Amino acid sequence: MSKKIKLGVLASGSGTNLQAIIDACESGEVSAEAVLVVSNVSDAYSLERAKKHGIKAVFIDKDNFESRKDYDGELISILRDNQVDLVVLAGYMLLVGSEFVRAFKGRTMNIHPALLPSFPGTHGVKDALDYGVKISGVTVHFVDEGLDTGPIILQEAVAVMENDTVESLHNRIHQVEYRIYPAAIKFFAEGRLKIEGRKVRILEKGEN
Ligand code: GRF
Repeated sequence: MSKKIKLGVLASGSGTNLQAIIDACESGEVSAEAVLVVSNVSDAYSLERAKKHGIKAVFIDKDNFESRKDYDGELISILRDNQVDLVVLAGYMLLVGSEFVRAFKGRTMNIHPALLPSFPGTHGVKDALDYGVKISGVTVHFVDEGLDTGPIILQEAVAVMENDTVESLHNRIHQVEYRIYPAAIKFFAEGRLKIEGRKVRILEKGEN
């Protein structure tokens, strides 16, 4: 069996995506291991989830750093110290800075609850609903220096229902997220994601 890759997960909130990823790793579906969870929120439930699974859980307080650059520097060093192969943003509510992007170029993923490039930013579900789209969805993408602009790895559509609220739509979006985030990480772990400019090619097994 191939060697497991090490994941460092950044999460500001409840961490239900983190949970789906941990479960996929523990079941052996994804050849990876979450070694570290970092949050910028001291009481984020994602930190509790990590602890329950024996994963190192770290809160980094932005207020202890003079600049965003310093804060990102701390993030970079803790991820490096733990030999993280892939950084997974799972409901991480801060934009990572350019140094971070450079340090983990092609090795940082994010999940967004809309079909990018439509409705980027922190209110993707609400913005799509308010706009009146009939189809929204989920995007998993590599992180670049923009806001939700990096090369797209996987997308899946979710139909908007007549009476949807932000909550009901987000619930159905979540169900898709729990499936496609682990799937994207699995492709990465298998060395099957090739970034070619804006495009991400998913290689067949054994292709390179
Ligand atoms: C997800 O919907 C994700 O797409 C967005 O933030 C939400 C995080 O949810 N980036 P959770 O903390 O994983 O439950």
